[in-house]
This record gives sequence, C-alpha cells and structure tokens, in this order.
Amino acid sequence: MIYGERIRLRRDERADLPKFVEWLNDPDVRRYISMNLPISQVNEEQWFENMLKMPREEQPCAIEIRNGEGWRLIGNCGFFDINWTVRSTEVGLFIGDKSCWNKGYGTEVMRLLLGQGFGTLNLNRIFLRVDSANKGGIRAYEKAGFVHEGRFRQGTYRDGRYEDMLFMSALRSEWDASTEEMKGKSHVK
Ligand SMILES: CC(C)(COP(=O)(O)OP(=O)(O)OC[C@H]1O[C@@H](n2cnc3c(N)ncnc32)[C@H](O)[C@@H]1OP(=O)(O)O)[C@@H](O)C(=O)NCCC(=O)NCCS
Repeated sequence: MIYGERIRLRRDERADLPKFVEWLNDPDVRRYISMNLPISQVNEEQWFENMLKMPREEQPCAIEIRNGEGWRLIGNCGFFDINWTVRSTEVGLFIGDKSCWNKGYGTEVMRLLLGQGFGTLNLNRIFLRVDSANKGGIRAYEKAGFVHEGRFRQGTYRDGRYEDMLFMSALRSEWDASTEEMKGKSHVK
C-alpha cells in the first residue's frame, strides 16, 4: 500500500473490474482518455490478465479514499512504458467516481506517484499526455508539480474533430527541491 493524507494506492484486484467497466463506459469519464469505444466485462478481464504479465512497476494501482472504517474505490492509476536506461516513464490516472472530482484527489494521487517514481523506483523523469481541453486535469497536474513541455498539434481526435495534446513532465531535481521546500516550511512552524 502507498498511503497519502486522504487516499491510498493498492494493487488492482479482479473484484475491481465491474466498477472499471461501469466508469470507462461513462462518456464524461472517458472523454479525455482516448477510449472512444465501449468496453465489456470480458474486454476488461482480458486487460487484467495481460496486466498481470507486465513488470510489477507497470502494474496499475487502485485509488481508494477513506469510507468510515474502510476504504472506497474511486479510480485507477499507474506508470507505463518505463524506460530504465533514460529512467523515464509515462504516468496516467482516472477518477471514475465523478462525485470525487475537483476535491484535490487527482493532485494527491499524482504527488504520491511522483514520490513513488522518484523516491522508490529511482526514476529521473515522469511525463504525461493530456487533452488540451481537459482543464481540470491540467490544473491538477500543475498543482502536483508537472510543468508544460510541449504541444502535439491535432494530436488527438475526439467528438468529430482534432484537438491538441499537451505534454507535461516532472524531473527528479524539481521534486527534490519542492520536497525540501515543504520540509523547510514545516520546520518554520
Ligand atoms: C482529470 C482528473 C484526474 C483530475 O482529478 P481531480 O481530483 O478532479 O483534480 P483536482 O481536484 O486535484 O484538481 C482539479 C483542479 O482543476 C480545477 N478545474 C476543474 N475544472 C476546471 C475548468 N473547466 N477550468 C479550470 N479549472 C478547472 C479545479 O477547480 C481544481 O483546481 P483548484 O484546486 O485550484 O480549485 C479527474 O477529473 C479525472 O479522472 N477525470 C476523468 C478521466 C481523465 O480525464 N483522466 C485524465 C486523463 S489525462
């Protein structure tokens, strides 16, 4: 488990799949995640079996928030296409439970993944792609410490038209500086 202030990340389980299918078929949830076609339980089970064959570092994590004494599943996240020579990876997430949007969870998930990527996996660069119209996502990634690094013009196709795709990244040196700054602030208190 990876614990944050309000969330925890744990390995995906087979029992999570019905929720993933429900969420990934919701047009609001999948609008910006390049999943244009409906998916079935069988599709998701196939994805799950393939996922188990991937290196552990690339197996996604379920996102959970506190729910009374227990925990409640709200989404999924993880690293993919890790390049161990360059020590770079792409990262992605979705929060499927729409009642949990705009409450800071996306930012917290990204902060946890940055901590895991730099502090545990010893990566040097973590990047993501985001649809230029996904204003909430862009804002969450900026708050987590990602900086804008490029724009693929007409890099994605959605709702009958091309949209630009933005690239954002965080470097180990920037992460180290931001965590040092936070430690400094907590000393001042
Ligand atoms: C994108 C996503 C991960 C963001 O997570 P989240 O928990 O909603 O994000 P946060 O609450 O941490 O941050 C969102 C920020 O964007 C702001 N925001 C939301 N909609 C906005 C808009 N249309 N314009 C400007 N800012 C907006 C929020 O106010 C918040 O900023 P604030 O804290 O300064 O007020 C989540 O909404 C999601 O999973 N969406 C569906 C799937 C998806 O798009 N995944 C990402 C693909 S790259």
